[in-house]
Amino acid sequence: MPTPTVLDGTLPASIDAAVDLLRAGQPVAMPTETVYGLAADGLDERALAGVFDLKRRPRFDPLILHVAEPAGWHDIAEGMSDAGRRLAEAMWPGPITLVARRRDGVPDLATSGLPTVAVRCPSHPVANTLLRAFGGPLAAPSANRFGAISPTRAGHVSDEFADADLLVLDGRPSERGLESTVVRVLEGEPPEVLRLGAVTLEAIEAVIGQTPRVRAATSQPGSAEPAESPGLLDRHYAPRTPLRLMTEAQAKELTADQRQRVALLGSDEAVATLGEGFATAATLGAADRAAEMAARLFEAMRELDASDAGQIVAIRVEDAGLGRAINDRLARASA
Ligand code: TXA
Ligand code: MG
Repeated sequence: MPTPTVLDGTLPASIDAAVDLLRAGQPVAMPTETVYGLAADGLDERALAGVFDLKRRPRFDPLILHVAEPAGWHDIAEGMSDAGRRLAEAMWPGPITLVARRRDGVPDLATSGLPTVAVRCPSHPVANTLLRAFGGPLAAPSANRFGAISPTRAGHVSDEFADADLLVLDGRPSERGLESTVVRVLEGEPPEVLRLGAVTLEAIEAVIGQTPRVRAATSQPGSAEPAESPGLLDRHYAPRTPLRLMTEAQAKELTADQRQRVALLGSDEAVATLGEGFATAATLGAADRAAEMAARLFEAMRELDASDAGQIVAIRVEDAGLGRAINDRLARASA
């Protein structure tokens, strides 16, 4: 049976091996500061088709093209608003994805036929080295099967694709642990956040001088319509174990019987307050350290998914800063 190969992404020989595969149209898993991605030649339709197939991702869900340098967006996109340019300047390399008009030459498969394209310049040194060595844009969706929890460690990727002949570059645990924030920044339009993520609304506001609009989830799973940002599909980031999102007050009402079947997920404080009697529990960190909670979130969800509890109960965090993106992921995991 084919199995993944994990190589230390900081070694030049690993980068060489990855570039050879990418040039041959094969996917390679690479670390980024947000989550691990399944990279493929962003301008090669056949390589992109391979990524969709490996992820079992529907073709209506467009990909993000990653570039080595902030200025690299000019090669694939145009018509970016001033706000978009300011965000690119202030935040790249980093965990923000900007959606602008797509240039000729960007394959339909990368954008699912949309007139726009999503671009990101990642800050992870391994991703950056790989992008430079490859010399062109790399499409990289999160390296998980469609709808499943995003990977934040090389081991998550090799578990997820255990039966695939896939090269995984190991770049240590992803620092941010949440996917990039996706912002539509077309000329003549106010900026609009399509997916909450590692860059907060507050940080965006500090750059563009206004609070961006946040698009509400509209597209439904199973809908035949090409969704505007299918990352907004209601159900996503989901463990196999059913997950319910609750406030601490709601979780206090769980009976002793119910507790026995529940795997609890929450901040250190929430888990301590709710006390004993749960099948198992995972803590995200201190409630006032949202960045640490975000970095831990997907890993903790995986841990609890691997327990034999019948249900995961996640406790909502404070809805500000990164807490908003944490609650968003938990809500989608529970949909
Ligand atoms: O942090 C990240 O963004 C990670 C790492 C690997 O870079 N990648 C990632 O890719 O999360 P993926 O494919 O799992 O999510 C891409 C998101 C989806 O929500 C997709 O719908 C949206 O970007 N997207 C891509 N192209 C778009 C477009 N032209 N218009 C609107 N949304 C788009
Ligand atoms: Mg994803």
